Amino acid sequence: MSLQNINDLKEHIADVFFETGTYEGWLTRIASEFGFKKIITIEIIPELFEISKSLSTEYKNIDFYLGSSPEIMKKILPQFSHENITFWLDAHPSGYFNEKTWPVFEELSAIKNYCSRNNHTILIDDIRLFKPEDIEKTKSLVLEINPNYNITFLEGGSTQDVMVCKII
Ligand SMILES: C[S@@+](CC[C@H](N)C(=O)[O-])C[C@H]1O[C@@H](n2cnc3c(N)ncnc32)[C@H](O)[C@@H]1O
Repeated sequence: MSLQNINDLKEHIADVFFETGTYEGWLTRIASEFGFKKIITIEIIPELFEISKSLSTEYKNIDFYLGSSPEIMKKILPQFSHENITFWLDAHPSGYFNEKTWPVFEELSAIKNYCSRNNHTILIDDIRLFKPEDIEKTKSLVLEINPNYNITFLEGGSTQDVMVCKII
């Protein structure tokens, strides 16, 4: 993850922290410590799924899922009908193995089609790696979920690296 100031995440505390792309679970554990009641995290690489779980045995409120994020999201998002969710969309190639997927468009589509509410907070990491046209497409998919989203950017690994989509 690339928030320059990790405490920025505290501005977005909700019932559920929903992360795509666990890697080794570093931010997953921070979210648990920050006070999100339930943490959901999805990782596509089996080795990383196992490593993140083994590093997090003391954290009882984290549910780890192995698989591709859009597919898992379709299955589990409908169960969160009453909770506020902060999404952290961070699934993309990490160089750890040979994974090639960058599923953010499909993830936004899953949020649109499988959440019973359309006012969750959506944080999208590593915007510096997006092509300009993909930033525009990302914004328009967010506004398809709810045209009232306010879209801003937080400092991350570089300027404006985290897209913050929030109903205010
Ligand atoms: C930048 S790392 C995540 C870092 C982590 N969120 C953090 O803040 O510490 C990206 C992760 O996304 C995973 N990934 C890539 N495609 C994925 C997919 N379709 N579904 C789930 N995870 C995926 C990669 O294997 C990698 O572990």
